[in-house]
Amino acid sequence: MAYQKDFIWGCATSSYQIEGGYNADGKGLNIWDVFCKEENRVFEGHTGDVACDHYHKYKEDVKLMADLGLKAYRFSINWARVLPNGYGKVNEAGIKFYSDLIDCLLEYNITPFITLYHWELPYELHKRGGWMNPDIVEWFGDYAALISDRFSDRATNFFTLNEPQCFIGLGYNTGEHAPGLKAPIRDQLIMHQNVLKAHGRAVQKLREYAHNPLQIGIAPTGSMCYPASTSKEDIDAARTALFDIPASINEWTWNVSAWSDPIMLGSFPDQFLKQFEQYLPHYTEADMKLISEPTDIYGQNIYNGKEIRMGKDHTPETVERRPGFPMTSNNWPITPESLYWGPYFLYERYKKPIYITENGIAAPDFISKDGSIHDGGRINFLDQYLSRLEKVSDKADVRGYFQWSLLDNFEWNFGYRDRFGIVYVDFETQERTLKDSALWYKEYISYHS
Ligand code: FCB
Repeated sequence: MAYQKDFIWGCATSSYQIEGGYNADGKGLNIWDVFCKEENRVFEGHTGDVACDHYHKYKEDVKLMADLGLKAYRFSINWARVLPNGYGKVNEAGIKFYSDLIDCLLEYNITPFITLYHWELPYELHKRGGWMNPDIVEWFGDYAALISDRFSDRATNFFTLNEPQCFIGLGYNTGEHAPGLKAPIRDQLIMHQNVLKAHGRAVQKLREYAHNPLQIGIAPTGSMCYPASTSKEDIDAARTALFDIPASINEWTWNVSAWSDPIMLGSFPDQFLKQFEQYLPHYTEADMKLISEPTDIYGQNIYNGKEIRMGKDHTPETVERRPGFPMTSNNWPITPESLYWGPYFLYERYKKPIYITENGIAAPDFISKDGSIHDGGRINFLDQYLSRLEKVSDKADVRGYFQWSLLDNFEWNFGYRDRFGIVYVDFETQERTLKDSALWYKEYISYHS
């Protein structure tokens, strides 16, 4: 039971959540810049205008990463910072920012893992229909080409999309996230198709413009499923439940397989095709080929999961959580087993090297009298989750782990309410303080390196 040799230890962030500089140096607006300025969209009217001011403080932040011994850093590019309209004219100042960031990371031997899209849709593209417009496949492809051309001389690890489940489900189904819409199911499924095709096109373009061999994957999310016991029946039930498609059209995005199967296996699960038959757009053979353009790695964000047992009628059954079940400060269940069974089942099905692209906890962190942040809950969380990841490393080809997140940051519609960082950020002074968990993670990395 041990992690692989040269295991990649990192932290993850995303551009809108930390950068700020929302209108700096020729950057265009994205849907979050606009959404946050509307009334009653985000907790207490917070915005990411300044966020952690990482745009100006990136050197200090990379230095922190180096102090913690991080081997890798997963960050996203703010599409409208490099292409203010989403396509066409390049903003060289934006390119320079990411280029300098990459150089700075490399100076400290930290490997960049770049996410192309962590929900930063340029507002100009939104006005042209955004994910509804089939042109987005080429817009995203051209953006990928630009990023590959400019950065792949130094950065060779890429994730195309972060959590399509969320940016479609929360952005266009419930409307909790930007752009805050409630689209008809038929339209959501057109977006689903465009998202999948855009992923495939980006994979092609990243490769076409690459100056080095690349490792490319996607970073979806999902609630994992773990068996109530180690009996074969319960394990089978958990596996089935993990790849199950919710029947309700209001929840259709919350699944693994309608997103990852077409990309990784070149086909949709039958259950999905049956359940949504009347709403689905037509897929040609060429579409499926594009969507399943081969990738090298498989990313998965894993925060929690459900306990599953085989029911009496031989269908999976969710075990009710006992009273007092541990929960994070933003009310997510704490389920370390999800970091064992998630990679286990995902590797079984997709057979590609796995990276845990996000995992972490929101906790009620505050500064103690001694000036430190004693976030014992986060240490306990990481310790328990990672012990499961270490254990599954014998069974699944797990290559890396990115803790979410390096810094406390802008947590979407919850603004600055939820602190996910291992580094505490005072949003008034922009002062950074290592929490106890950062020191713990540093030791953990050094022990396992
Ligand atoms: C994930 C998002 C990430 C962050 C964490 C807490 O769903 O990818 O940006 O908000 O949750």
